[in-house]
Amino acid sequence: MDQVFLNGRILASGEAWISPLDRGFLFADAVYEVIPVYHSKLFLWNEHYLRLERSLQAIRLTNPYRATDWREYLEQLVEANGGGELSVYLEISRGAEETRDHHIPQGIAPTVFAMTLPPLAPDPVLEHSGVRVVMLEDIRWHRCDIKSTALIANVLLREVAREKGAAEALLIRDGFVSEGTSSNVITLKGSTLKTHPDGPEILPGVTRDLLLRLGADLGYTIRRERIRPDELLGAEEAWLTSSRRILAPITRVDDRPIGTGRPGPGYERLRQAWQRHLDAFEA
Ligand SMILES: Cc1ncc(COP(=O)(O)O)c(C=O)c1O
Repeated sequence: MDQVFLNGRILASGEAWISPLDRGFLFADAVYEVIPVYHSKLFLWNEHYLRLERSLQAIRLTNPYRATDWREYLEQLVEANGGGELSVYLEISRGAEETRDHHIPQGIAPTVFAMTLPPLAPDPVLEHSGVRVVMLEDIRWHRCDIKSTALIANVLLREVAREKGAAEALLIRDGFVSEGTSSNVITLKGSTLKTHPDGPEILPGVTRDLLLRLGADLGYTIRRERIRPDELLGAEEAWLTSSRRILAPITRVDDRPIGTGRPGPGYERLRQAWQRHLDAFEA
């Protein structure tokens, strides 16, 4: 992560400065996206861009650039960092103003920042054994569909999971499994894939939606319905999905196994379908 993008310019990260009066810093008055890059190309750009526009609209922040300009800037950033396989993190905050007033100020320039992140190292443990998760009460706000940088609740929940030796926390809201702290959840039972319906309780994951489309092509029935914890525990398989980890089999919840307690055949099928999709994208 050498070169970063700040307000229309690409420059060395050490030379990029943002005001301490920026509302992104003072209020987490900002939204973000993380877009995977394969073969130097932005993966699922349209889907990520649509979600970015929805987040901006939800926090009443005008999109500072047109879609074509966004794409051009981010492609320049990818190239400046050597391209290949990485992720782009972008953030738009409302910008800096003197008064630290809760009222949304008018007429100030937003701050636009982007950087690249290295890909996550392949995790052989994940492939062979899956991950253990814990269930925790969802303490987040009521607009989890906005990709807001106000992530302290997610950070604290993930830390509790780590203290319990788990890779992720499955969050329980109103008695149902909403999602993970940085991932969505899909369960498999029979030939049905189930996931929480879109709404304010979850971030609608771009990876999840692609995997569900691929799952439908494989003949699975897709149900967007709330999942009870006991239903998750009784599933044959369950997975976490996210742009950075793609698909991770959940093999234990607290101390109880899911299915056989090993990554199952459904995981293999979907993982292979995803790989075929990626190969076609890269070709
Ligand atoms: C809370 C939350 N849910 C779900 C996801 C998965 O979204 P995506 O597949 O678009 O990366 C993320 C990703 O960061 C997240 O933070």
